[in-house]
Amino acid sequence: MQEPIQKTIDFVKKTLANAEAGHDWFHIERVFETAKTINEQENGNPLVVAFAALLHDIADPKFNHGDEELGPNIAAAFLESIAVDPEIIAHVKLIIQNMSFKNSFDAGSFTSKEMQIVQDADRLDAIGAIGIARAFTYGGFKNRVLYDPAIQPETHLTKESYKNTTAPTINHFYEKLLLLKDMMNTETGKIMATERHNFMLLYLEHFYKEWSGK
Ligand code: ADP
Ligand code: NI
Repeated sequence: MQEPIQKTIDFVKKTLANAEAGHDWFHIERVFETAKTINEQENGNPLVVAFAALLHDIADPKFNHGDEELGPNIAAAFLESIAVDPEIIAHVKLIIQNMSFKNSFDAGSFTSKEMQIVQDADRLDAIGAIGIARAFTYGGFKNRVLYDPAIQPETHLTKESYKNTTAPTINHFYEKLLLLKDMMNTETGKIMATERHNFMLLYLEHFYKEWSGK
């Protein structure tokens, strides 16, 4: 049972060797560890949870000309190559196909307990102390200002605001990060998200205080 997981870890590490900071091996490792923590309470199939967590960002459509099927196909081909049970492969593939934040706008997509666990773990990595670090890394990469009091955030998350390419990084908190707490699937995920959410609120309070010279 451990061997296929170790092989998957090695494969993902090698494949993501040149990935950008938001989706590098360490993001995968955090999601993998967090998914295992959640699964200790939620009791999903541990193999499905592990494979889906490890392979969920193996080929992000954003960096692959919008190809939504590449990641799921690479994941499935890899799992076949190490002779994983076809039922498990099919389940992992469905999870990866349906998990991305963009897909979660579209109702009626596939769901399962394991999918909910891995999606919660991925969302948890976008909030709290790590989420703050990732947001400013992304903003810096896009050469955005930290904050601009004249540019107010969109308060409703839509496909448009999500794709907004010029907003200050602080706006991203209101457009996505602070909304994730209420999008959590599992009870364990909700508890973990609440702690990280409250930390972001405290962070923002300090941010504005320092911004105004206090
Ligand atoms: P995901 O991998 O969850 O689908 P993305 O690829 O959109 O999310 O984002 C990766 C990381 O970059 C996340 O931590 C996210 O919050 C951050 N990010 C995405 N868009 C922005 C933005 N407009 N401003 C700041 N951070 C962003
Ligand atoms: Ni991810």
